[in-house]
Amino acid sequence: MTVQGSSLESDLVLLRERVNARLAHYVGSDSCTSAADCPAKLRESMAYSLLAGGKRLRPLLVLLTAEACGGEVDAALPAACAIEMVHTYSLIHDDLPAMDDDDVRRGRPTNHKVFGEAMAILAGDALLTLAFEIVAQFTTPPAVAAACCADLASASGWCGMVAGQVADLEAEAAGHESHRIQDPAASLRQLEAIHRRKTGRLLTSAVTLGARVAQADQDLINRLEHFGKSVGLAFQIADDLLDVTGDAVKLGKEVQKDASLGKMTYPGLLGIDESRRKADALIDDACAALQLLGQRADKLTALAKFVTQRDH
Ligand code: IPE
Ligand code: IPE
Ligand code: MG
Ligand code: MG
Ligand code: MG
Repeated sequence: MTVQGSSLESDLVLLRERVNARLAHYVGSDSCTSAADCPAKLRESMAYSLLAGGKRLRPLLVLLTAEACGGEVDAALPAACAIEMVHTYSLIHDDLPAMDDDDVRRGRPTNHKVFGEAMAILAGDALLTLAFEIVAQFTTPPAVAAACCADLASASGWCGMVAGQVADLEAEAAGHESHRIQDPAASLRQLEAIHRRKTGRLLTSAVTLGARVAQADQDLINRLEHFGKSVGLAFQIADDLLDVTGDAVKLGKEVQKDASLGKMTYPGLLGIDESRRKADALIDDACAALQLLGQRADKLTALAKFVTQRDH
């Protein structure tokens, strides 16, 4: 990931290394009292996807938001790792034959291609639940841990990311034709609702987790939530665009998949240029919401800009 500004880039490299080291620790055999009881194959399957790289955008958002709110990176690391576990679980399941049926993820064969579908499902289940164990055990004080668990559960669950994945699959099942023949404004509203839930909710919770760990006041949390919602939608528009215009090697996943599956996407509905404009406008809106924080939000602002400038 290259973000403009060399000192910011080196800060991000260091933060990403801290996240990666902590993630490796959490899926290691000595991370908690019961960790040694994890079946070896399950641990291998979890670590295979979790430690395969990835941009670590969600954990970086947690850490930079905590910093912007005057909190400590160390205190936010458990929540940062937890959200990456939830995200990785969602990718493992998203790639399954019953969902998007993908063969490559993070530059390697998808989890189910290596470990089989049953183990991939179970590795996803285990990462999801481990995420909550970690927040509950290692985030302090307990009231903040509880608020973080509630945020993460609501963002990833039945009315959040899972709901968005259901809506994504339902739109796909309805087929290409229905996307075109529908009222275009209604189609856009449907697509926005899909993207805000399948991707936007989890990304927004990265920001609220960071703010909660830093014990930000409710006004600031609301402002950051607005930032997160705009970044989250822009992120999925960029993902849709990269499926059409991106490079499979740089992305570490297959491209040109969405149209062939009949997915509802921004470039599919609006075209490439209009989709880019929409994503850029969302990032401008997101950054405006941070102005009140002044220089403290510089890194967060730069990370938000990366969301639409990225090529991976
Ligand atoms: C891909 O997420 C799935 C979406 C929600 C669009 P990322 O693009 O953040 O994937 P990694 O974590 O960098 O692999
Ligand atoms: C994935 O969206 C969203 C979640 C995993 C929740 P996509 O299906 O567009 O992500 P990619 O393109 O496979 O990474
Ligand atoms: Mg999908
Ligand atoms: Mg997919
Ligand atoms: Mg995609």
